[in-house]
Amino acid sequence: MQVSMIVNGEEVTREIEGRLLLVHFLRDDLGLTGTHWGCDTSNCGTCVVWLDGEPVKSCTVLAAMAGGHEVRTVEDLEQGGELDPVQRGFMECHGLQCGFCTPGMMMTARALLDRNPDPSEGEIREAISGQICRCTGYATIVRSVRWAAAHEASTPAGGAS
Ligand code: FES
Ligand code: FES
Repeated sequence: MQVSMIVNGEEVTREIEGRLLLVHFLRDDLGLTGTHWGCDTSNCGTCVVWLDGEPVKSCTVLAAMAGGHEVRTVEDLEQGGELDPVQRGFMECHGLQCGFCTPGMMMTARALLDRNPDPSEGEIREAISGQICRCTGYATIVRSVRWAAAHEASTPAGGAS
C-alpha cells in the first residue's frame, strides 16, 4: 500500500506493508534514526515522536495510521542551525549518559514546554513517566527541562516548526 504524510515539514510518500510500524518507517524507510527503538512491549518510550503535535510512542502506531497526518521527529528540533533550548538544556545539565532514551525524552519535554512554559518538577516527572532512562536517575533530565524553561526566550527558534 502507498502512504503519504508530512514528516518534519516535508511530504513523503512510500510504498509500505500494512503491518509496518511508524518507528520502523521513520528509521528504515526515511533514514531518521534519531528516533530509537528500544523494546517490544511499548514500555520504554525511546520511540516518542509527535503525531499532529502530540507525543506518541511510534512503536504503537502503524505507519499507515499516520497517513495524512503530521509527524515531527527529534531531527526537527534544531532549527536554522540553532539547537532547541531543550537540546541545550540536556547539554548544560548532563541530561544524558548513553543517550539512548534522549530523543524521546526531548520530544516529550518540547511538547510539555509548549503547553506549560514553567513546569514544576512534578509536572516534568509526570510528563516523562511513560519513558525509561536506565542511566541518569532522572534528576538531571528534570534539571535539563527546567533549564530549557528558563532559557526559552533567549533562543528565537525555540518553537515548533
Ligand atoms: S520502542 Fe519501547 S515504547 Fe516504543
Ligand atoms: S541516558 Fe542512557 S538510558 Fe537515558
